[in-house]
Amino acid sequence: MGGTRVSALSYAQDNRRRFVEQLDGFLRIPSISALPAHAGDIRRAADWLIDDLRAIGLTTELIPIEGSHPMVYAEWKGAPGRPTVLFYGHYDVQPVDPLDLWERPPFEPVVRDGRILARGAADDKGQVHMHLRAVEALLATRSRLPINLRFVFEGEEESTSIHLADWLAANRERLGADVAVISDSGFFDGNVPAITIGLRGIMYAQIDVVGSPVDLHSGTYGGAVPNPATTLARLIAELKGPDGVITIPRFYDDVRPLTDEDRAAFAALPFDEDAWAAGVGVHGLAGEAGYTTLERKGGRPTLDVNGMWAGFIGEGSKTIIPAHAHAKVSCRLVPDQDPARIFALFRDHVLRIAPPGLAVDVKLLGAGRPTLTPIDHPATRAAARALEATFGRPPLYIREGGSIPVAASFASILGLPVVLLGFTPPADNAHAPNEWMDLSNHEIGIRTIARYWDELASVGRDGLAG
Ligand code: BES
Ligand code: MN
Ligand code: MN
Repeated sequence: MGGTRVSALSYAQDNRRRFVEQLDGFLRIPSISALPAHAGDIRRAADWLIDDLRAIGLTTELIPIEGSHPMVYAEWKGAPGRPTVLFYGHYDVQPVDPLDLWERPPFEPVVRDGRILARGAADDKGQVHMHLRAVEALLATRSRLPINLRFVFEGEEESTSIHLADWLAANRERLGADVAVISDSGFFDGNVPAITIGLRGIMYAQIDVVGSPVDLHSGTYGGAVPNPATTLARLIAELKGPDGVITIPRFYDDVRPLTDEDRAAFAALPFDEDAWAAGVGVHGLAGEAGYTTLERKGGRPTLDVNGMWAGFIGEGSKTIIPAHAHAKVSCRLVPDQDPARIFALFRDHVLRIAPPGLAVDVKLLGAGRPTLTPIDHPATRAAARALEATFGRPPLYIREGGSIPVAASFASILGLPVVLLGFTPPADNAHAPNEWMDLSNHEIGIRTIARYWDELASVGRDGLAG
């Protein structure tokens, strides 16, 4: 395999410039899943993928999803007896506001200092694109892949993948594989490669507090009626103590405690807390008492307000008692917390502590389960070998604070081990203005993926089954 492998890898190097031009075209499509006005763009991004996959030589299918964006499916099944990989990525992107903080329009990519800047460059179109190019390089130089491959590209990941679990369950048969691979995560720091072994889950809810049908004059009525905004602020403040511990009864019941090994692994990561805080730009750090920063963001659950609004928020003053007040609150979850149970605990507690005289409603907006995979799975080891061969150093193993709900679904619905192999530094500005992808990571990543498929072929189906 050695000789042909070199040619696939040098193909990736030789075609570097064309690959970047092509990525530019993909990034130009404003495929924002959260905004209905962009439904046509989402469809264009899906069509872009279908055309590209077909040109490379894969069998493709655009699968409509009732009430949402289509699933893009493609496969290459020419390696009977070899492992089958189910690769997942998403072609939708986050909204772009605040627009004025972008150096360039978010859907007009620009290459600067070895980086390509655009919404989706890192999360996740850039990484999806790397996988397509790895397959192109392998098929162009060998006319075959070392493994069987199924591609699933989703168009509503940034809108909490509402339809994906049902689709996976309904398509269990056709999605049969030996391992699931996702490239929608990143490195630990800078350009140090990493394999993500844990993701937090999420429970996302909205609280609505309603007092009167319309805003009231705060002089005429103030002092005599309850204020929804004040009440909401108090409700939220009560959900967490000054020690950062969440006060919802039974919230921590299912939290798997960090073992001595877990804590040693966090402590062993090369992490300079002051430099990190300075890089983030915060004035200080805060979190649950008794845990380090890395433990807090990778191994412990949280509760955070994502947005809050009530009454008059324009310039100057307007004297009213707001008719209603609202907050969006999310909890990041760790094994073995169940988002449905956490929502029930959250809702019941908020309703229990709400004062009388106001209507309080709590509704669930999104949910995803946490994951944690052993670092010694043969598929993870193979990924580590591929990273070490291409990046020249072994990867770190990290627990990520973000969430990819489909990761848990691959394990629970399809029964697959999941490898999270991402290629972007944490400072990539995902979800923020000026998102970027390092172009040397893009190129090395393509070679890593090609190499990984070779490594998995060497492990074989029996080796993957353990
Ligand atoms: N790619 C991210 C998840 C991620 C973030 C992985 C950072 C590793 C490091 C994904 O696109 C994302 O944004 N997920 C959402 C999930 C939510 C919409 C259910 C998240 O984490 O907020
Ligand atoms: Mn993503
Ligand atoms: Mn994202």
